[in-house]
Amino acid sequence: MIWAVNRSVMENIGFALRKSGRKSKSHWNLFLSLLRIFSFFLKITGYYKKGYGNAKSIAVNELTLKFPNLPAAFNGFRILHLSDLHIDSIPGFAALIIQKVNHLKFDTCLLTGDYRRDINGSFSHILKPLHILSNYIRASYGTFAVLGNHDSYLMARYEHESGMELLVNESVEIIKDGQKILITGTDDPFSFYTESALLSLETKGYDFKVAMVHSPELANAAARNKYDLYLCGHTHGGQICLKEGIPIISHQFEGKQFNHGKWKVGQMTGYTSKGVGVSGMPVRFNCEAEITVITLIN
Ligand SMILES: [Fe+2]
Repeated sequence: MIWAVNRSVMENIGFALRKSGRKSKSHWNLFLSLLRIFSFFLKITGYYKKGYGNAKSIAVNELTLKFPNLPAAFNGFRILHLSDLHIDSIPGFAALIIQKVNHLKFDTCLLTGDYRRDINGSFSHILKPLHILSNYIRASYGTFAVLGNHDSYLMARYEHESGMELLVNESVEIIKDGQKILITGTDDPFSFYTESALLSLETKGYDFKVAMVHSPELANAAARNKYDLYLCGHTHGGQICLKEGIPIISHQFEGKQFNHGKWKVGQMTGYTSKGVGVSGMPVRFNCEAEITVITLIN
């Protein structure tokens, strides 16, 4: 797998390759040092506990999206969108997510990356909670996942154990009552951009196409290739925001409109999840975690 070779090199030398062509050493460790200072400030002022409680409160957001070109068999089709689980950031977090998804009804589950807290090191400790969570994601038409910038190419070895099908620069058809839609998943373009991600979006011959990408950065490319729906996360909606929901740090390179929620690029509808979990520091302010259920109608 060429993507795995490319990614292994980038992961091992600690460089991030951006779509804009920028290539830089990851500044994650510097960011963590600054967060430790901020965390100390929150603790001495008593805000840390409040933010930690906020991070454990997950909203379930229902969204209905209308597409005139949606094949009739998919009218009412429900997508559970989970992004940025960072399942090891908070002890017992898998159980909190299970409480939320257990009673939800959906046809497919799409996970848009970032399963662990850190951007490097071991991930073996997240395999068990992910596996337990996958037992509660009962999706008749399958569970599909892409990698985020916190994930390792080595996680691909465990996709079947986790009950998810990993899509890295590839597509899968969902067939219902003889009609079909296309789901395309790319590698993470925020830190591990390659031309292969763009090429994987050059798909033809489908009435309705969904792109799953960790971050919003391939939105223009997906719209050019006539994708109808683009699901992503990565931003956490800012995670720590001012009272008006304005992020202090956005973790994105372009486009404020992509920070969270619904947006449009040309005819394509996009949705950026605020994420289920947290990274850096296990707190949220003015930015509620979310699990999203999207109902497609025509
Ligand atoms: Fe994330």
